[in-house]
Amino acid sequence: MNTAIALFASARRNGNTGQFIDWIANSLSVQIIDLSEKDITPYDYDHNNINDDFIPVMNQLLSYDKIIFVTPVYWYGPSAQMKTFIDRTSDFLDIEELKDIGRKLRNKTAYIVCTSISDDADSSFINSFKSTFEYLGMNYGGYVHANCENGYNPVEYKDDVDKFIGSISERKGV
Ligand SMILES: Cc1cc2nc3c(=O)[nH]c(=O)nc-3n(C[C@H](O)[C@H](O)[C@H](O)COP(=O)(O)O)c2cc1C
Repeated sequence: MNTAIALFASARRNGNTGQFIDWIANSLSVQIIDLSEKDITPYDYDHNNINDDFIPVMNQLLSYDKIIFVTPVYWYGPSAQMKTFIDRTSDFLDIEELKDIGRKLRNKTAYIVCTSISDDADSSFINSFKSTFEYLGMNYGGYVHANCENGYNPVEYKDDVDKFIGSISERKGV
């Protein structure tokens, strides 16, 4: 069984980030979950949104050992949908009955696939993911970035993608 899954969140499905992850996901034969198709509302201290799609999506992710977080860089951070999803992991820290589910993130390996219009992903963007993974007890597996300043041009990223795919495949699983 494939042990990796991609969690994708962009303001458009077939834009730069969508095309980038389609390439990588096809090469690795991994499934893509598109957060834009899910009903996941922002973090609520009262947890009135507990029955939206957050827990089903999280349960799906938890059946994989490697989780690839896929987002464009929007204002030095992830897309709004991705940020909302990350905020919602706090549900697992708050709600006693959910704590066991949250603990299942520990020891999984997290990767980042991202695009921007800069030479590299902003360090604050990468570091916020790294800190989040660390807090959740996840291992950090690395990232791959596509500079789409002149549009999406796969030839430019081929070496980086090959390396990234190699590093995911190397770890037990895929
Ligand atoms: C709202 C918004 C904010 C952006 N902020 C940044 C940024 O901070 N740094 C950067 O390099 N590119 C930024 N960009 C450019 C996108 O990261 C880039 O075009 C990306 O490839 C878009 O991916 P998408 O087609 O999946 O939306 C921004 C684009 C948008 C629409």
